Amino acid sequence: MSFFSKLFGSEKGADTASFSNPIKVEFHSHLIFGVDDGCETIEQSLEILEDFAKLGMRKVITTPHIMSDYYKNSKENLFPLRDELRNRLKEKNIDLELDCAAEYLIDDGFEKKIASGELLTFGPNGKHILVELPFMDEPRNLASALFELQIAGYTPILAHPERYLYYNADRNRFHALKDQGILFQMNMLSCIGYYSKPVQEAASYLVNNNLVDLIGSDTHNKRHQDLLQEVYQHKLYQKVCEGTLLNNYL
Ligand SMILES: [Fe+2]
Repeated sequence: MSFFSKLFGSEKGADTASFSNPIKVEFHSHLIFGVDDGCETIEQSLEILEDFAKLGMRKVITTPHIMSDYYKNSKENLFPLRDELRNRLKEKNIDLELDCAAEYLIDDGFEKKIASGELLTFGPNGKHILVELPFMDEPRNLASALFELQIAGYTPILAHPERYLYYNADRNRFHALKDQGILFQMNMLSCIGYYSKPVQEAASYLVNNNLVDLIGSDTHNKRHQDLLQEVYQHKLYQKVCEGTLLNNYL
């Protein structure tokens, strides 16, 4: 073992060379160009999709933001762009299934969207939905929104719970949400401390308490994508992959 691997060994996987990423379905990213804070051009989107194929993904379900105030996306503007990307992938002979759903912010307008029945969903029965929360405070309508989703037959997946520091400050809330049947999706970059040390610590707590159901890259740009190799070598990522993750069933 080299000096550097001895020095950094505690933070990395014990046997990085033999780690084979078991995840074949990536389902949280911002790769529909020009519609949110993710990719801006079709070339950027294609470069990242090509990278995902090289990383061994068989399917990417990309999830543009949908918010009542900022990103008013819907299938009307998203699906034609998805189709354009599918065509370009085919032209380039890139063997990758591409779907488009959404990452919904639970805000004041979200319950109207549930009532409309027009939600962009995914999964084996088309009923999984990715939701995110504001970073500063838990939304006041969280309980009612989650309840309405569930009684309408949806399975809510909470995006990156480790990033909501109000939950990290009261970790019983993680358990309470899980007890309500909410699935947790951890961000891969949280493993390497990309967002902050407290977020990495919360991620570690979630993994060590078997609270993580799915993992996602939340890739917005090439910089995020390029860090995934580092994620694969991190012991926290390798540990979460030892658990039962649902990605490959999506
Ligand atoms: Fe996201």
